[in-house]
Amino acid sequence: MNQSHCPITNFSADFDPLDLRDPFPLLAVARREQPVFYSPAIGYWVVTRYEDVKAIFRDHETYTAANTISPIVPFSDAVRQMLAVGDYRPEPVLSNNVPPSHTRIRALVNRLFTPRRMKSFAPAIRAIAERGVRRIRDKGPVDIAAALTYEYPAYVLFHVLGVPAGDVPKVKAWAGNRIKLYYGRPSADEQIAMTRHLLPFWRYVVALVAEKERAPQDDLTSDLIRMRDGDDAVLTLNEIASCMITLLVAGHETTTAQINNALLHLLTRREHWEALCAAPERIPRALEEMMRYDPSVCAWRRLAVAASAINGVDIPAGANLLLMLNSANRDEAVFPEPDEILFERGNLKEQLAFGYGIHYCVGAPLARLEMAVLLETLCRELPGLRLTPGQAIEYTRNISFRGPVSLRVTW
Ligand code: HEM
Repeated sequence: MNQSHCPITNFSADFDPLDLRDPFPLLAVARREQPVFYSPAIGYWVVTRYEDVKAIFRDHETYTAANTISPIVPFSDAVRQMLAVGDYRPEPVLSNNVPPSHTRIRALVNRLFTPRRMKSFAPAIRAIAERGVRRIRDKGPVDIAAALTYEYPAYVLFHVLGVPAGDVPKVKAWAGNRIKLYYGRPSADEQIAMTRHLLPFWRYVVALVAEKERAPQDDLTSDLIRMRDGDDAVLTLNEIASCMITLLVAGHETTTAQINNALLHLLTRREHWEALCAAPERIPRALEEMMRYDPSVCAWRRLAVAASAINGVDIPAGANLLLMLNSANRDEAVFPEPDEILFERGNLKEQLAFGYGIHYCVGAPLARLEMAVLLETLCRELPGLRLTPGQAIEYTRNISFRGPVSLRVTW
């Protein structure tokens, strides 16, 4: 290992990867002074510059996605035993899979999220947004995170996947639990308690897939079963269940947090909110800028399977990398005045909130559509929306998912 980049540095000591309250100042200094550094807190190399992050995403042979769902705290023997007894058998299909298996499965899942198919869901998504906003409209001040944005993306996702809407509260709780188990730092007892909630989640998706196989409908889960057409070489039923558990986490937690981030910033600098209410056609660009400014997936992982160098730092084979998407998106070399909110940036498409390369977020077309629909509805129905002053903004301790836990608003 190159001794001039000894893993023990101030960044190593000062950077707490689970503390998501205000990561931006430290990351700005790191980009300038030590763009790649080691975090002993989690045993990962932290990569902060845009070009490095993008190059790693691009080179999926040297840097695989195999570690993206690995628990930060490895499972104890007791947990592994519980998972074995509980027949918990999700396998790598999308996020933590590698070619050629990833290529085969991703090609099928891509066909679910085409712009055309998404467009066909737009009227239903509008109806879900309107119902949610009208329900809070007559209530007065609310925590909009609890009253609207926590469940909205799940209702949308359940509609497109053909999952019963009545199961939203149950699945939201399971998904939140799974994120804390894999991306947080649970104690041994907490790990066991969380595993107890993980097992029914898996049984639920297995039963859902069996039900769709028995009676396919007009939804994306049934589409996967139709594509399989009974042929395990195309896709196994266990792979479909594994896709479902991935989608039933990735498909709403991310979007809830992204909407909350957007609302927080637009309402903090309220001239931006007013600009959108006056010209809602600017919403898609505004959302893109919000994803650049404060991406809900603030960091994502890769595993170096061969020795390499990143920005002059030697990275050994087997090293874990934490790619700071929130830092890459504020890299002044790519986005001038990175701490400003500027809807009219010429290169917004370059932002990395959805990742890049072969694992680029498959749900991005749905996320963009549902977020735009909700903001349009809020601008129309509640243009007087503003933050309740003096509230503390809090974030859950974890390494990857950043969004305010609650957001009190009035209008
Ligand atoms: C604003 C909301 C969202 C954000 C910020 C987001 C972000 C991301 C990121 C950063 C990745 C990793 C990309 C990489 O490794 O290069 C990803 C992958 C993924 N996302 Fe999203 N996502 C969002 C919404 C969604 C939705 C709505 C769905 C499903 C309906 C979804 C499903 C997935 C899946 C399945 C993957 C893995 C794809 C693969 O490995 O091939 N995401 N997303």
